[in-house]
Amino acid sequence: MNPELARAVALLQAGELVAFPTETVYGLGADAANPAAVAKIFAAKGRPADHPLIVHLPGAGHLDRWARDIPAAAWALAEAFWPGPLTLILKRAPGVPDAVTGGQDTVGVRVPAHPMALDLLRAYAQAGGGVDGQCGIAAPSANRFGRISPTDAAHVREELGDAVALVLDGGPCPVGIESTILDLSRDDSLAPRLLRPGHITPEQIEMVIGVFPEVAARRAEGDVPRVSGSLDAHYAPTTPMRLVASARLLDFMNAIRHSGRRCGALCHSLPPQAGMPHVWRMLPVDPEGYAREIYAALRELDGAGVDLIVVEDVPQDSAWAAVADRLRRAACGAGLP
Ligand code: TXA
Ligand code: MG
Repeated sequence: MNPELARAVALLQAGELVAFPTETVYGLGADAANPAAVAKIFAAKGRPADHPLIVHLPGAGHLDRWARDIPAAAWALAEAFWPGPLTLILKRAPGVPDAVTGGQDTVGVRVPAHPMALDLLRAYAQAGGGVDGQCGIAAPSANRFGRISPTDAAHVREELGDAVALVLDGGPCPVGIESTILDLSRDDSLAPRLLRPGHITPEQIEMVIGVFPEVAARRAEGDVPRVSGSLDAHYAPTTPMRLVASARLLDFMNAIRHSGRRCGALCHSLPPQAGMPHVWRMLPVDPEGYAREIYAALRELDGAGVDLIVVEDVPQDSAWAAVADRLRRAACGAGLP
């Protein structure tokens, strides 16, 4: 085993935190069977303790150690999309710590596709796992609560500094936005519910299970958010941010400029204009390419010393749904303390 991987395994077994790359974003990992280790994740992120975490597994063969009453649809989806960016919410098995599930009766699980994440999970299993021989690694995105998810090892260091014992560097994440979350824990008579859109689309899910997922309604005012990704303000830069339709973008930025404020532009179709904002960042015009770069670009603009980040709005069609979701939440939480 390579020495860094061996160190990661030893740290996890000792109840310490290890950040690692996944195909979506970097995760901040701890032994999921060790409540004291999991508590360190919440402390490092500044995340409220009732927000549940995703348990990462080396393979679908480990599923029944974490979940019970697993429906056939879950096995079919695991077969089709794991390793990959799909998280399944299932009824939790007895013994899964409350620290992981936020006290809920369900647990989120996925098998990540990044080779370094898989190497880590398999090495952990081979070494006998952690508490009770379980080899699940609980890992939220390795950012401070509510902030932009890291898609590069350097972002993790920026976000968490010394709060994490080791950051495994696997380069930039190829998907770039968090996994699709599908809730399969409800009654058999109900359609599975899409809690967070991602790279795996509802159309792809329907192809496998024959049912189009219900899209979770937006949270009612005053509801306790059980899914932190469902908070309106999330994935946000500290600089205020506005989403503006392509057709209105130039007028909008001109008005900002004339008011003496500096703005940074994040565009995918409108090329840089002479005399326009100090910072103009182009993103790919296809949704996959855009998703891969969006968080790094937001992070860059957030550090560019502008007063406002202006983002050219993306198309309304379903191929852009996951990106549109992240942009809307980022705009909502931007500029908050
Ligand atoms: O792509 C990803 O999913 C990344 C990588 C690291 O795997 N992880 C990630 O974790 O995005 P996090 O904690 O930042 O977001 C996970 C989301 C949260 O919104 C959490 O509330 C939700 O999953 N979640 C976890 N367990 C749940 C459960 N039992 N019921 C409902 N939502 C759950
Ligand atoms: Mg997150």
